Amino acid sequence: MQPTKWLEQNDAKLIGDLAKLVAIESISTDGEHQKELDQTAELTCEQMKEAGLNNVQVLKTGSSNPYAFGEWLDAPGKPTVFLYAHHDIQPVKGFEDQWQSPPFTLTERDGRLFGRGAADDKGAITTQLGAIASWLKTKGSLPVNVKMLVEGEEEVGSSNLQGFFVDNKDRLMSDVIVVCDTENVENGLPCITYALRGIVELSVEVRTASAPVHSGMAGGVLADAAIALNVILARLYWGHKKLPVPGIYDKVRKMTGPERRAAKKAGGDETKWRSDQGVLAGVELALERNVSPNEATWRKPAITVIVQEASTMANKSNQVLPKARAYVSCRIVPDQDPEEVYEQIKAVLVKDPPWGVQVEVKPTAKMKWWMTEPTGPAFVAAQKALKKGFGVKPIPIGCGGSIGFVGPLAELFGGAPALLLGIEDPLSKAHAPNESLHAGDFRKLTASISHLFEQIGNLPDGKVK
Ligand code: BES
Ligand code: MN
Repeated sequence: MQPTKWLEQNDAKLIGDLAKLVAIESISTDGEHQKELDQTAELTCEQMKEAGLNNVQVLKTGSSNPYAFGEWLDAPGKPTVFLYAHHDIQPVKGFEDQWQSPPFTLTERDGRLFGRGAADDKGAITTQLGAIASWLKTKGSLPVNVKMLVEGEEEVGSSNLQGFFVDNKDRLMSDVIVVCDTENVENGLPCITYALRGIVELSVEVRTASAPVHSGMAGGVLADAAIALNVILARLYWGHKKLPVPGIYDKVRKMTGPERRAAKKAGGDETKWRSDQGVLAGVELALERNVSPNEATWRKPAITVIVQEASTMANKSNQVLPKARAYVSCRIVPDQDPEEVYEQIKAVLVKDPPWGVQVEVKPTAKMKWWMTEPTGPAFVAAQKALKKGFGVKPIPIGCGGSIGFVGPLAELFGGAPALLLGIEDPLSKAHAPNESLHAGDFRKLTASISHLFEQIGNLPDGKVK
């Protein structure tokens, strides 16, 4: 039987496997679901064994969340493909009532599979294991060697991953990296991501007094910490111009003409962007003039206030608040330096504080951007495989999101090519209510990875770069 035939015949089983993964609340962002993270790691291991992988085990390093690992190394002389996905997910808290079906019950509607983590990134686990099983169940062998790692703390910045890679370098060493955790910009259009943004995150805290004071007694006298914080944050407002942070564009690599045109063309225009993301009537896109949404997310720095707090709704009271804080997250792009960007934003936040309030800024996360040249044998193999799986020629794209380990891992593997294949799409709503996976594209990606094994296995002299 042909491997892709096996995929067709086992479609319901694979979707059932995904449903089992989605049923577990493996949220990594709140530190309260360690049990569930253990369970998804275990279940992933079970599914790895069922697909036919060997040496399957749960691995940990220090205080990390569990990694699921499995391999198949019986193709001597053939390249080794390193497969990556993550089993941890984003929370649903605060927005449960916006879900149209229960977040942890995989539910099919209009050709989409709804559920937290369906697209980001549990679908990728099923896709990769489906592709592996399609060979092992039909031919009893794979055209390449495979090592598969499924991480449990991607959504909280993968802080242990680099150490884990270094500690397990020999066990993990591979020739090609395949990551399924990015998007296709249109349904049915396979995309190979060649650039990721990095992140510089800072906390900013404003203090005015040692405790809250009755707003009748102190209102109009004591400096208001919440207002002071917002005056400071408002300095970051850019309207439709560039970010008002001196120096922040100094090292931003210019897009070439062809790159700009490709970005403008890929995945539709501003109108589509608005409707995909549910932007409300009258609300302008915050774009810089003459910059397309893709150009903005792929290759421009962006600043977001991801949270701010002075008190809580439940604690509403007539007080002048003495303390307010926020986290500011900046996505960075080639060739920005994370340390420099931190200093540049900090300088804006601490300058001339309103009413002379105390302002403290601290770095809370840093992650480099990544960019590669999507050429060479491994990329040609991926193009052929995706063309076969989707029936459409793939396009290279950038990505506004961040996957911090890609650059360091490629380096650790001696410059191994990294193929980032899309599992999400513009309607996936990753991290948001009603997250979903496009069922048709999920099937096409699974078939593509099955083809990819063959394409890489057939590269002349096993040369991947
Ligand atoms: N799958 C996303 C990355 C992504 C985002 C791909 C947008 C395509 C479009 C990944 O799981 C993610 O969300 N990463 C985090 C990393 C952070 C916690 C360091 C991100 O980008 O915020
Ligand atoms: Mn992800």
